[in-house]
Amino acid sequence: MGYCNATKDGGNLKSSEISGFYKLGINERRKIVKDFSELTDEEEWLLSSPSDSLAPDKADRMIENVIGVLPLPLGIATNFKINGKDYLIPMAIEEASVIAAASHAAKMARLKGGFHTSSTEPIMIGQIQCVNVKDPLLAMNAILQLKAALLKRANEFDPLLVSAGGGAKDLRVRIIETKRGKMLVVELLVDCRDAMGANAVNTMVEAVAPEIARITKGRVILRIISNLATERLARAWVIIDKNSVGGELIVDNIVEASAFAAADPYRAATHNKGILNGVIAVVTATCNDHRAVEAGAHAYASRNGSYSSLSSWEKNSEGDLVGSIEMPMAVGTIGGLTKVHPIARIALKIIGAKSARELGEVIAAVGLAQNLAALRALADEGIQRGHMSLHARNVAIMAGASGNMVDEVAEIMAKENKVRMDRAKELIQEHNNPEKQ
Ligand code: MEV
Repeated sequence: MGYCNATKDGGNLKSSEISGFYKLGINERRKIVKDFSELTDEEEWLLSSPSDSLAPDKADRMIENVIGVLPLPLGIATNFKINGKDYLIPMAIEEASVIAAASHAAKMARLKGGFHTSSTEPIMIGQIQCVNVKDPLLAMNAILQLKAALLKRANEFDPLLVSAGGGAKDLRVRIIETKRGKMLVVELLVDCRDAMGANAVNTMVEAVAPEIARITKGRVILRIISNLATERLARAWVIIDKNSVGGELIVDNIVEASAFAAADPYRAATHNKGILNGVIAVVTATCNDHRAVEAGAHAYASRNGSYSSLSSWEKNSEGDLVGSIEMPMAVGTIGGLTKVHPIARIALKIIGAKSARELGEVIAAVGLAQNLAALRALADEGIQRGHMSLHARNVAIMAGASGNMVDEVAEIMAKENKVRMDRAKELIQEHNNPEKQ
């Protein structure tokens, strides 16, 4: 199990090539990492300190080569009213001010009835790539002729999903031009019900792929879900009273900001990042696959050929602000880790969503709220004031403040607009030795 290779000059060059790392216990793995990266005893201890919420043996079964767990703050966004129902929203995120901002926006939304949502059926797309097809049009027709049999074959592989009302519902074929010539893409549309569905979809496309190869006489290569979940969309909209958002000028500024994001990919990326601050925090809290949601969101934002915004803000005839969002939402309330991770289970219980669609709609509403909070701040005083006062607390803690001192130091730094480690240290020193001042 050596990971130190002797160099020519006799020194030891550490190698990350460690065979059988996965076979070791967590403690042994940690020891190796400690030596490799020269971790201190304290750092090793922090990695090893048992988490009541995610026991090491559970974590060890979730992924490979586990050496510890990484706790993230889990907070609750308050004030959300969605389709007339009140929700508390668990959000797992490391960025300060996101949860406060979402709660604030949700409070503004309540004045005019809160958020309204809708969604499509929970349909995911599985793709089968087929190359070297002599006559793609003929092959396409042959596949479509056999659609019913192919769907039946796919559904044989997930009777549970079928009995819950889901399963492969449709099949479509596209011919695409690529730099390697024409390709046939067969797409299975699978209703995943309350699961995110990657396993079900991947199993089905793998199951029908040999049939596709036989029918087309081509070569099937990839068989995998698409994260551009255009058939599984969540939508939310909201009316925000002009006075609660800060008056007509702010409404106008937010409408201008929305037009900016719609027209310019550089702004759209940041605008959408603000939406994803909320979306991903809930997706993470419920242990859904946030990479899938994020990939889908960005691909969807580019669906018209140029990257644009996922949300839009307009002014209505009363001068109030009207916001809407539409985005792919591949999340589940069963399957994956949602029921395995104890905290994810609790997070789902706190939200209380009865289905994956409801969860997706709640997440879309949180994304819209997060977007509103960011635009409101940007359209008015800028985001730094709010951001800095929260960031100041972290700087104060990092500089060594504890207890009441954290808020005292943070407040002074924020007021002075000097949120810096050196200033925090000075203030702590002044606090500890007042007679020297
Ligand atoms: C920061 O995390 C998110 C914002 O940049 C979003 C935006 O600019 O709309 C404030």
